[in-house]
Amino acid sequence: MLRLAILVSGGGTNLQAIIDAIAQGRITNAQIAAVISNNPGAYALERAKQAGIPHICVSPKSYAQRSEFNAALLQTIRSCEPDLIVLAGCMVVLPQELIQAYAGKIINIHPALIPSFCGKGYYGLHVHEKVLERGVKLTGATVHFADEGTDTGPIILQKAVEVKQDDTPQTLQRRVMEEAEWNILPEAINLIANGRVRIKDGKTIIDGGEA
Ligand code: GAR
Repeated sequence: MLRLAILVSGGGTNLQAIIDAIAQGRITNAQIAAVISNNPGAYALERAKQAGIPHICVSPKSYAQRSEFNAALLQTIRSCEPDLIVLAGCMVVLPQELIQAYAGKIINIHPALIPSFCGKGYYGLHVHEKVLERGVKLTGATVHFADEGTDTGPIILQKAVEVKQDDTPQTLQRRVMEEAEWNILPEAINLIANGRVRIKDGKTIIDGGEA
């Protein structure tokens, strides 16, 4: 049974998609060990509470130095003994120590088709604002392994979503979540939990059947 630590910062709709997928058997061989938020007001914490999942807030505001927050975050994650860390709308820049300690064991959902609209400053609604500014006709979402860079790790799954002419950042964000994120994040976790994802030469290979 793969133990998941899910890191969140906001509404937690991706967390909910994971909770639902486990309940409905679309994710097998995995359980949520803990939900960890940097934001005490994150609705994701309430979702975890309602689902009876251990949840904790580690806020940078509780620490004088960033290094103290980083150490507390790493310690909290270690105490959950996770096999996989899932960044599900996590807006914290992860400490390098954490990325190194869990190399190949951290995945992130990004609300665009990497390598487009990613990197520093591309998070949350800003991504969709930039997509609309540029006028692309297709966007989507990407699940990838996290490495030392920003949105640079091996890509696991992607799904394209149509941009409509009358979209606002909010309507586009919702469509990308509904049509892409809430499907591919649980799907990627299920693939990993069932031993079907390998990294080779900086790319992922999905074994056995269609992904
Ligand atoms: C999601 O759209 C996720 O892809 C994005 O934040 C949102 C969180 O929503 N993540 C990033 O931008 C990370 N760079 P949620 O809290 O409802 O899951």
